[in-house]
Amino acid sequence: MHSIEELQQEIEKAMASLKIGSRPASLYDPAHYMLSLGGKRMRPLLVLAACEMTGGKINDAINAALGFELFHNFTLLHDDIMDNAPLRRGKPTVHEKWNTSTAILSGDAMFVKSVQLIQACGNRKVMDVFLSNALLVCEGQQLDMDFEKREDVSIDEYLEMITLKTAVLPGACLQAGALLASASEITASHLFEAGKNIGIAFQLKDDLLDAYGSEQFGKQTGGDILANKKTYLYLRSLQLLPESDALILKQLYTSKETGIQKVEAVKKLFDSVNIQEEIQQVMNDYFRLSLEHLEKTPVQKKNKLPLINLFDELMQRKK
Ligand code: IPE
Ligand code: IPE
Ligand code: MG
Ligand code: MG
Ligand code: MG
Repeated sequence: MHSIEELQQEIEKAMASLKIGSRPASLYDPAHYMLSLGGKRMRPLLVLAACEMTGGKINDAINAALGFELFHNFTLLHDDIMDNAPLRRGKPTVHEKWNTSTAILSGDAMFVKSVQLIQACGNRKVMDVFLSNALLVCEGQQLDMDFEKREDVSIDEYLEMITLKTAVLPGACLQAGALLASASEITASHLFEAGKNIGIAFQLKDDLLDAYGSEQFGKQTGGDILANKKTYLYLRSLQLLPESDALILKQLYTSKETGIQKVEAVKKLFDSVNIQEEIQQVMNDYFRLSLEHLEKTPVQKKNKLPLINLFDELMQRKK
């Protein structure tokens, strides 16, 4: 068994020698730029940790691990265009540094490469898990965009949207890792559920950090507020605020203003209902659910520790 730090080193080594292509440089340079900016590598860590935990070897899962990371990076390139985001991992986004057309096509190339890497695993079930969940990510991303323009989004709809855009992918990573270790279907599906629930907590935290994170988060502070994103922070605040303040919050969210004043005014309303504590509680609920599914897998407790540690780190993260 490897620790999370050791798995991280394996992933960095494999990522460093991964070349998507070379010519034209205008297609591949932006993709390699994006991959070189690092990131937490959560998805490949989940693949490898699940594979080892269920008795497999990390060499059998490394292609899948890279495939999921590449797919994730592809979604980020397109997501940053859709969200009009200037910063990613503390550096200019690809569409800012190059242009939108470049970011679209470099993203497409990363997507193709991600499919090739999954194909190289030679496991039909893993390919099915990857592709079906990749399509769900697109569905979630479209709902996220649709919700920007809608004023009647419910918290349940929000939870469904983040399940699709964010949470099914960590689920698929854990499921794929288990399938590559020839674990039973039932173990693999408990791991999917564990990943999905930690993924929901992960997106709740992402929404929290978007408004309250420090520089190390690496994204524009308040980007979600500026884009009128219907996050948990916003939707729950509307429920908790007195009617007059809820009206002000709604009005702020109809404006196309892009200045820091809007971010500050919205955060003041969020603060008045202690939204950070609210969201922390919901995150804890999903964290517990993920551990319950992990407990249901027929694996010795000590072999689950790397994954439990990773879940813990994700809950505590600042970036
Ligand atoms: C960002 O994912 C997109 C979301 C689903 C919130 P990460 O926070 O995993 O991004 P990196 O890869 O570590 O930069
Ligand atoms: C993105 O959600 C989810 C995907 C990329 C599929 P966000 O738009 O919140 O992610 P960040 O905050 O830009 O990383
Ligand atoms: Mg987005
Ligand atoms: Mg975004
Ligand atoms: Mg975000």
